[in-house]
Amino acid sequence: MSNDTTLVLGATGKTGRRVAARLRLRGTPVRAASRSSATRFDWSDPGGWDAALRGVSAVYVVPPTVPGPVHEFVSRAEAAGVRHLVLLSGHGSDTWGDSDFGLDMRSAEDAVRNSALGWTVLRPSNFDQNFDEDLFHAPLVAGELALPAGTVPEPFIDIEDVADVAAAVLADPGPHAGRIHELTGPRALTFAEAVELMSLASGRDITYRQVSPAEYTAALVESGWDKEEARHVADMFVLMERGVTAGTEDGVANVLGRPPRTFEEYVLRTAASGAWHG
Ligand SMILES: NC(=O)c1ccc[n+]([C@@H]2O[C@H](COP(=O)([O-])OP(=O)(O)OC[C@H]3O[C@@H](n4cnc5c(N)ncnc54)[C@H](OP(=O)(O)O)[C@@H]3O)[C@@H](O)[C@H]2O)c1
Repeated sequence: MSNDTTLVLGATGKTGRRVAARLRLRGTPVRAASRSSATRFDWSDPGGWDAALRGVSAVYVVPPTVPGPVHEFVSRAEAAGVRHLVLLSGHGSDTWGDSDFGLDMRSAEDAVRNSALGWTVLRPSNFDQNFDEDLFHAPLVAGELALPAGTVPEPFIDIEDVADVAAAVLADPGPHAGRIHELTGPRALTFAEAVELMSLASGRDITYRQVSPAEYTAALVESGWDKEEARHVADMFVLMERGVTAGTEDGVANVLGRPPRTFEEYVLRTAASGAWHG
């Protein structure tokens, strides 16, 4: 059996579905996989992994939320004849030190970077699309985003750029083998500044309110979150406050030969879609 298919994990998620669409448009055979995809893939059920890996040349890996399973997955990928892995990790993950945040991503990086396969690690900063496709969307629609984000700015990145980079690497892995691409937007801004831009462009009164990590964790738990997962999200803000992930990087330009999209472009596009009107 010839290996020419790209397996896209997390294929229903924010990056995976964009990566899959780009590859299909290029004419690359894509196998889209997740727990609810046509190809069923569950990080907690290795029984289905070999079938997903059959005939696959490259994998876009969206890691599980717990440390560990990617090590076994990499062994299976090696046995299946996969040639290249592209792992989605997080910006500056080697600077997170003793933080509990991101143990899942760091474990996945260890597995991929120690494998015998070609590999590339993508380390994006916080996604622009968290504000309309994820955790921050509902509060913005309700008119107030309350976070322990402080005043350290964040170089938010547009996931369209993350997907462009992932698709470019998957299409031509050679130059990216053994490389880590730190991916950020072109400038860093605080959450308060980001919310102000969204409020202006949408024409809605949306405010930012600073809360403590403990208050934020309590609010997530009150809204139905598991306590451990809520603490995990709050840990990210504690880490951001250290400032180690506030700088911009040139990964997008290095791979794509053009600068990353601006936060303002994202805000204009998303405000026009009506996403912050609920
Ligand atoms: N959000 C950010 O700002 C940011 C920044 C940097 C890095 N990251 C990293 O990005 C990753 C998330 O990527 P994303 O935003 O593209 O995905 P996402 O939108 O969070 O969606 C998660 C994807 O994983 C699948 N999934 C969930 N549980 C699974 C399981 N047990 N087994 C197999 N598949 C499972 C989901 O599909 P099903 O439900 O169908 O299984 C879905 O396709 C995380 O590792 C995160 O740390 C995020």
